[in-house]
Amino acid sequence: MRLTAVKSFKLLRTFIAQSKVKTMGTNSAASKQSSIKTLLTSSAFGTEVVVKGWVRFFRSNRFVILNDGSSIHNIQAVLNLDKVSAEECKHISVGACMSITGQLMASTGTGQSVEIHVASFEVLGAADPEKYPLQPKKHSLEFLREIAHLRPRTNTFSAILRLRHAMTFAIHQFYNDRGFINVHTPIITGSDCEGAGEMFRVTTLDAKNPPLKEDGSVDYKQDFFGKETNLTVSGQLNGELAALALGKIYTFGPTFRAENSNTSRHLAEFWMIEPEVAFNDITDNMDLAEDFLKYLISYALNNNLDDLEFLKQRLLDEEKDKPKEQRNEMDLLEKLRSVVENKFERITYTEAIEILRNSKPHKNGKFQFPVGDWGFDMQSEHEKYLVEKHFKKPVIVTNYPAAIKAFYMKQNDDGKTVAAMDVLLPGIGEIIGGSQREDNYEKLLAATQKFNIAEKDIWWYLDTRRFGTAPHAGFGLGFERLMLFISGMGNIRDVIPFPRAPKTAEF
Ligand code: 4AD
Ligand code: MG
Repeated sequence: MRLTAVKSFKLLRTFIAQSKVKTMGTNSAASKQSSIKTLLTSSAFGTEVVVKGWVRFFRSNRFVILNDGSSIHNIQAVLNLDKVSAEECKHISVGACMSITGQLMASTGTGQSVEIHVASFEVLGAADPEKYPLQPKKHSLEFLREIAHLRPRTNTFSAILRLRHAMTFAIHQFYNDRGFINVHTPIITGSDCEGAGEMFRVTTLDAKNPPLKEDGSVDYKQDFFGKETNLTVSGQLNGELAALALGKIYTFGPTFRAENSNTSRHLAEFWMIEPEVAFNDITDNMDLAEDFLKYLISYALNNNLDDLEFLKQRLLDEEKDKPKEQRNEMDLLEKLRSVVENKFERITYTEAIEILRNSKPHKNGKFQFPVGDWGFDMQSEHEKYLVEKHFKKPVIVTNYPAAIKAFYMKQNDDGKTVAAMDVLLPGIGEIIGGSQREDNYEKLLAATQKFNIAEKDIWWYLDTRRFGTAPHAGFGLGFERLMLFISGMGNIRDVIPFPRAPKTAEF
């Protein structure tokens, strides 16, 4: 008994001693890494700090300008030329990864408040200056798309990635604060929610030699899921099932569209946020969409001002070379603030068509696609005219003709229109699409037939209208369209880390 007690005491002592060493180790500056973001606002001058990051500039063989991604701002580390030889510095170059230990000091240089006086450093990964493609100069966005594996190391893309993160966080916060439940909807699906037929097939069948039916068509019964499946274009239909049990839900997932549109606003893989709310009507839906957008923009203004300031300046520099009439009237921050501060305009599709038919570009034949009769599908140039020229603010268009919208939308009493809504933003056009949903079983069944959707494929969705149906509404916000708006970037391929678009899936 005694022996055991002594033994355990000794063991305990050894354990305490070991954990002390460990604690001292983690507390000592030698192993504790600080983020550049924290150091830039620190005034703990004289303390020893460790930073790790990538060299942005190396000036006069003495000043290492380092960035670690925590902030748009860099930190300057000053080498003591009496203590380091040229040989030791030979691997310091733009793009190299370094660990630097030194004293945090108030900076005497302009443009920075602190700097590090280097005591020791290690080049963790050299970057051959002859071969490293990212030099400290302005590269075109087109070129950066070709080196998407390295572009997160630029100011523009690191700012965008930090903003994407902030927006993701704010989206969850917005819905969580309002009692919504986040639901994960499937990525592989057997249904085409939007009915546009622009889906990517998911199959494990042998592409060269698929099993065939007697009539020569592919026998998907023998495929992995025993039926034809695709990547989802929207989580909405499954989201509705959850809303009709949980009340308020939202999804936030990747969506896929095989539309062959090589535009600056379309991706083949993009992220969508889709709230769905039981007992909401189309007006509640509009209110939620407007509050949501304003919340996200305010969040960015309140939490990511450094990155937004940088992007604002980037845009101003880019616009310098443009003729005056092509420049934006407001800078990025003014534009974002104006969206937060002003009420969105709300008009019906019928009113929108009236405005367009009376517009100058229509009368002068300046629209590429002429404005047709009632029932015609507005093109992005028409949406842009409404928000940028006519109203000069965000616009929500409602009550579209049933024939140009999806099968699930609530049919209005006029027998022609549905309770749809599109939110249009300046410079972007459509950023949100949504509607109140048809909750009447017979009407919904008739709509599926009209849109040639087989009952055997959609019976589970129809079932919710047979058992405890309820009025409900929801919408989808395209995350990258939001990022375009907030960042002021012009091409959607520049607001997602690794874009997927026709003939583009390299990284
Ligand atoms: O208007 P859409 O097609 O609506 C739906 O998918 C509905 N099921 C949403 C719902 O009611 N729950 O798409 C919604 C939004 C668009 O407004 C746009 O912002 C974005 O998704 N979007 C795209 N973004 C990037 N690339 C594409 N190819 C996009 N297609 C749509
Ligand atoms: Mg749409």
